Amino acid sequence: MAGLSNGVNMKTYFLHPESIRNLFDSIAPTYDLLNHLLSLGRDLYWRKTAVRELKGFEGWILDVATGTGDVAIEIIHQNGYNRKVFGLDFSKPMIKEAYQKLLRKDLSETIALTLGDALSLPFRENAFSASMMAFGLRNILEKNQALAEMVRVVKGGGKVVILEFTLPQKGFMKRLYPIYFKQILPRVGGFISGDRGAYSYLPESVLHIQNAEDYEEMMLRSGLENVTSRRLTFGIVSLIVGMKRHL
Ligand SMILES: C[S@@+](CC[C@H](N)C(=O)[O-])C[C@H]1O[C@@H](n2cnc3c(N)ncnc32)[C@H](O)[C@@H]1O
Repeated sequence: MAGLSNGVNMKTYFLHPESIRNLFDSIAPTYDLLNHLLSLGRDLYWRKTAVRELKGFEGWILDVATGTGDVAIEIIHQNGYNRKVFGLDFSKPMIKEAYQKLLRKDLSETIALTLGDALSLPFRENAFSASMMAFGLRNILEKNQALAEMVRVVKGGGKVVILEFTLPQKGFMKRLYPIYFKQILPRVGGFISGDRGAYSYLPESVLHIQNAEDYEEMMLRSGLENVTSRRLTFGIVSLIVGMKRHL
């Protein structure tokens, strides 16, 4: 935390890739438990809904910022064991957690995992039929570069899917949400993970991005077309999808 009081912009500090990696390295063992607890189990529904967007896409699917692998696993659940899925993350402890989970579920031969950076994906152009990122883009400072990479590795006619926290725009959730994120979440998250700083970061990172339209704009700028978004659970999460132009 050194430096915060020396005029360093907190959001920028927290979004530095090295800080983000350290943060996820440290919360990896409790990530799943806290995810389910803090979202009251809604995270499972959010991922399920997002993965439905990938129905009918043949060939390899890439899960960028796969974390503990839940999206990759959901892709197999919805599409069967023949589906080819690659999960990528830059945190070794998160990938380790994912691998342990795949072993437990007998999916270690089905889903491929690799360490790698979303800003420079280690794959050739047009290698995947779709790429997806759940709750990852918010943590990346160079969002346009990450999206450009997700577009690059997808074939023409392929899909790019983003699932991300957003701010509810109206109703009681608009008032309740900041209180939950600023007061409750850091306390519960900090208590269980033993890392208060990590869970203080989450509200900061959400408030950094206002709404789904910001993500839509970014996706359009990255060259995707037919970009649409859907708000889930009063808009606390949004699902944004776009298609890569046929070459
Ligand atoms: C909030 S977790 C989401 C994990 C998973 N997608 C899920 O739905 O639970 C964010 C993940 O993004 C990863 N991440 C952040 N920046 C990254 C980058 N530049 N390259 C690869 N992974 C990154 C983190 O290591 C972390 O595992």
